[in-house]
Amino acid sequence: ILLWGAPRDFRIDKGSAAILTAENKVDRRLLPPKKILGKNSKSLVERRQKDLEQYLQTLLVQFPQATPPALSCFLHLQLYEVNGVTAALAEDLFHKGEQLLEAGQVFTLRPLQLYSVTQQLRLATPTCFTGDAKTDLGHILDFTCRLKYLKISGAQGPVGSSNIQENSLPFDLSIFKSLLQIEITECSSQQISGLSSLRQTLATMSVHHSTDSMQLVLVPEASEFPQWEPEGAVSSCPVTAVIPVWKSLTTLDLSHNDISAVDSSVKLIPKVEFLDLSHNQLSSVENLQHLYSLVHVDLSYNLLCSLDAAHTRLGNIKTLGLSGNQLSSLQGLCKLYSLVNLDLSHNQLTQLEEIRNIGSLPCLEKLNLSDNPMCIIPDYRTKVLAQFGDRAAEVCLDGKTTTEKELDTVEVLKAIQKAKDMKDQKRTIHSFTQRKPGQE
Ligand SMILES: *[C@@H]1O[C@H](CO)[C@@H](O)[C@H](O)[C@H]1NC(C)=O
Repeated sequence: ILLWGAPRDFRIDKGSAAILTAENKVDRRLLPPKKILGKNSKSLVERRQKDLEQYLQTLLVQFPQATPPALSCFLHLQLYEVNGVTAALAEDLFHKGEQLLEAGQVFTLRPLQLYSVTQQLRLATPTCFTGDAKTDLGHILDFTCRLKYLKISGAQGPVGSSNIQENSLPFDLSIFKSLLQIEITECSSQQISGLSSLRQTLATMSVHHSTDSMQLVLVPEASEFPQWEPEGAVSSCPVTAVIPVWKSLTTLDLSHNDISAVDSSVKLIPKVEFLDLSHNQLSSVENLQHLYSLVHVDLSYNLLCSLDAAHTRLGNIKTLGLSGNQLSSLQGLCKLYSLVNLDLSHNQLTQLEEIRNIGSLPCLEKLNLSDNPMCIIPDYRTKVLAQFGDRAAEVCLDGKTTTEKELDTVEVLKAIQKAKDMKDQKRTIHSFTQRKPGQE
């Protein structure tokens, strides 16, 4: 039996000791005597703690096969110990598993539970540890084979009153055979194995507060095979590993991590339509040209200062979230012709002229520019809308519909702009015709 730190509020109560003595033939003399005098002195408490520890170790050695229920309950084994944790989960699923699967709800597991199942499978101990068929490991495996929606919810700090650090417990996900959706929070990507076995079925994956690299999530094999290629790629150089793609994955949410680069692992997710990389550490956006199916991309709350030629990487997207970055120029966005929603709020946009870069995007309907320095410019709304020319009435700026009055002003501004443009044009033609004879 593997026992992690015993509960801090540890105390042997007379009842448990009596049951153990009576039912399990534990020698009563093993129990350290209670000391009444000076009960609160520190050294006495410490010594008694040691004695009790000794007593528990003796007990556990005495029952190498199955811990008596009284003892395991008293030690909180169902909360803290491999066999106890799996037995409790198995029994729970024995009663409710079928119902949960039918309801199609998200089922939440903790890393400690997954670790325990993983360990028990590795140890090749009997699948039923307690002798009670309801607690057979088989109930868990049957459930995990069929489960579709899983959430793994880790946590920082110790579990309950033990000293177990949950995010250091490795676990293996290959017991899941039918997952469509997984959400992982507050784990460390290093503790997770078997993610790649979900490649066939998974449609939606969310990983938060758990990784600093896309590759750790999408190509865990890369730690063994630094040289790899996605399957089906035409490759000239010899590679050591051919990695299957995530063939059903359409939604990938890696928001709230510490990712600093979009690495080449995205070659393995060609079907992704919705990509959320918000709240990370991206200072540039590479490699997205490999994602032909992208429709919605969220890059909000990163460290982006500019986006050069975004259309070469985000050619067909409809929604682009860029809120909370450091953008001061919109030059790179001028050819995102399919864009419908654009969120540029919370950036460093100062110059109204920058809007010209997006003014002729033919499908743009929603534009968010709130919390940019340019918002304090007098008549900011009408001046922005005027740059959309004939489409000014179709663009919804900062979530507010354009009023008739604003549209009137926009018309005036457009007329002024037009006159100015024509004047500029004339001047160019004029100087051109003037220069012509000189050139000959
Ligand atoms: C625009 O952005 C601000 C700041 O991020 C946000 O609070 C607001 O809800 C957004 N408005 C719309 C209509 O999306």
